[in-house]
Formats: sequence, C-alpha cells, structure tokens
Amino acid sequence: MTLSLHTLREWDSTDPLASFRDEFDLPDGLIYLNGNSLGALPKAAKQRAQQVIEQEWGQGLIRSWNTADWVNQPRRLGQKITPLIGAKAEEVVVADSTSVNLFKVVAAALALQQKKGRHEIITEPGNFPTDRYILQGLCQSLAGDPVLTTLPATEITDRISEQTAVVVLTHVHYKSGQMHDMKAITRKAHEQGALVVWDLSHSTGAVPVDLNGADADFAVGCGYKYLNGGPGAPAFIYVAERFHGKVEQPLSGWFGHSAPFAMLDDYEAVGDIRQMLTGTPSVVANSLLEVGLDIYGRVDMQQLREKSVRLTDAFIELVEQSCADRGFTLASPKDSKVRGSQVSLTHPQGYAIVQALIDQGVIGDYRAPDILRFGFAPLYVRFEDIWLAVETLKNVMDKELWRDERFQKQQAVT
Ligand SMILES: Cc1ncc(COP(=O)(O)O)c(C=O)c1O
Repeated sequence: MTLSLHTLREWDSTDPLASFRDEFDLPDGLIYLNGNSLGALPKAAKQRAQQVIEQEWGQGLIRSWNTADWVNQPRRLGQKITPLIGAKAEEVVVADSTSVNLFKVVAAALALQQKKGRHEIITEPGNFPTDRYILQGLCQSLAGDPVLTTLPATEITDRISEQTAVVVLTHVHYKSGQMHDMKAITRKAHEQGALVVWDLSHSTGAVPVDLNGADADFAVGCGYKYLNGGPGAPAFIYVAERFHGKVEQPLSGWFGHSAPFAMLDDYEAVGDIRQMLTGTPSVVANSLLEVGLDIYGRVDMQQLREKSVRLTDAFIELVEQSCADRGFTLASPKDSKVRGSQVSLTHPQGYAIVQALIDQGVIGDYRAPDILRFGFAPLYVRFEDIWLAVETLKNVMDKELWRDERFQKQQAVT
C-alpha cells in the first residue's frame, strides 16, 4: 500500500500532539526539518525575553539574583529536564556548553577510575567531532596520562579491560541517527568495572531516555536542539546520585563551592549536583531555555516517540516511493527501534541538493562528506510536511535544480 497525502492529513487530524505546533513561531510556508540542529522559537520565549531583559535586568538589576531567583536557575532547569531523561530531580544541572560539560564529566569519571589504576578512555570513530576533540584535549592536559582508544561501537564492550576507565558514546548518532542500547552497553561496561558517559544531544526531547533505568553514570546534552532553548542555549549535566560528594571536576569555580558568597580562599565542593557548575550562569539564555522546557512539562514522551517513529517511517517510505533511482542511499537504520528522530540520506551531490531544498522552503542540513540530514521534531512537524518535503526533493532531483551555481559553493555552516 502506498502512502498518500490524504492518509498523512488524516494522521495530522488525530495527532494528540498537534496543538503544540501553535506554540511555535514558524515562518509561513516553510517546512522545518532541522530541529535536531536548532529548535524552533517558542512564541512564549519572546515575552520571556522581554521580561528578563526589561524587568529582571533593567529594573531589578543585581537584586534579581535573589528576587527573580536567577541563582537557582541551573538547578531548577535541571529538574525540568529530569523527566525527559529518566533521572532523579537532584541529578541534573544546566550550565555551559555540551563541550565544556563533557570535559567536566569525563575528567570527573576519570579521576574516580585513576585511583583504581584505570587510565583508558574509549570512544567510537565518527563520534561527534567536539566529543572527540574534547577527549583528545583532555588526554593531553590531564595528569595521570589518560589514553584515548577508538574502536567501532560494536567492538567496544568486548574490548573493555581492567585498564578501561570510561567509555564515551553519543546515544543517538548525529549523522546516522543510529541509537545505541544504553542499558546493555552500560551493564557490560559496569561488569568490567568501567564507567560510561553518554552524550544525549540528539536524544533529549526526541526519544524517551531512562538513565536511572540503565544505571547510567554520567551524561551531558544540548539545550538548543529538540529542547528549543535558542541558539547556543546552555547544556546540561547528569551525575548519578551515588557519585555526589565523591567526584572531583577540574573546572572548580565558585558556583560549585559549598559557600560561594563566603568568599573563601580555598575550594570546597558543594557535594551535590551543583558541584558541576563552574562560573556565573547565562541568565538570559537560561530564561529562554526554561520556556522550551516548560513546554516539555506538558508532553507525553511515549506519544512523542510514537509520532517520531511514524514521521521518520513515513519519510523513508515516501523517499523510496517517490525518489527511487535518484541516487539516494538510506544512511539511517531502517528499523525504527534503533533510530532516533532523524533520517539521513547519502548522495554525492548532498550539499547542493540541501541548498536547493532550502531555496524551495524545505530546511534540512548537510554533514560532510555526503549526508543529507532531516530532523523530525514531533512537537511542530506535521505529517503533511513529510509529503511536501519529499515532493520538493523529487522536484529538485527531476528538474536538477541543485545544479544551480548558487548551490555549489559551501558556506561556513552547512
Ligand atoms: C552529539 C553532539 N554533541 C555535542 C554537540 C555540540 O556541542 P556544543 O554545544 O558544545 O557546541 C553537538 C552539536 O551538534 C552534537 O551533535
């Protein structure tokens, strides 16, 4: 049976999440399939921005650290993330960027493990570049001579040894959308005495995550993708409660001190999740992220997952139906059980095709060397959009619109 526009519109009419789309300010006529890169603007963020700037900053000035409770934002926002990732209310804090947070948690995990004579960090080839770069930098800069080993994900659990300190993996791969089995990998790592750090950047708000259920040790994730926190929004850190008060992290700034305003000369960690904080939080950015998180407070994650699977399945099916023999290969798992909320295709002309699509009002993105990436944020992507996106892709290919000179030169951000 082939999928029709009629069927997709019917699915939209019975979609329990359909009303969330109205909470976002999406340009008319645009099909936005890039919420995995930068989430859409929640309408309420505009009023919140005005409030935090004009009232809290403009009028409240320094008093707002107390009167507007700025000082507790990192924890309060962290608590709002916990239901999305299966963590306890006290296990998550919002701060800094994913890159910086990864440095902190891997260093913390490593410090615990080095005491037991374990020095090896394992990750996979093709993990998100910043994850790999942070690990490389960390190995060069930390005492105790940590070593970085790169192994295909399928080999990692069998190769963990008494040398292995930490395994660092991205739960949903940024390029392929392939989802690791968090529970199985964590269990196998623990059996060998290793810890695991999960990067949840492409999982949080896209697929239900159960960190506690997987007995996860540490995790980090991004605020500007599916959480719709705005460009460069702060990221988050999860540390399992069993490590609170037992870990050390090298960016030991005053916001992680047990008494920041006692102004003491020597660092003394606070002993709870705030120990992962470093310096003054980004108040304006946190305020906008909170708007995105408050929307998720009303979302049923099982419904979200069901919609995400349907959206991604429909996209794959329609590409096969309408764009067969156009040179595309599916670069994401066909099995939705191991796929996040994105679908990637490969094509040798991937960059130009994505530019032509954007020109036609369908926004996806390109990842070198040949990936066309489409993210499906279930809060605002409609089933009808899938139809229109694939029809546009077909048109771009049939009319060879991608050959236009404008689409050949790569811009700084792809
Ligand atoms: C898996 C993963 N980790 C980290 C990042 C980005 O980290 P940062 O926000 O520090 O630039 C991304 C961005 O796309 C990502 O996909």
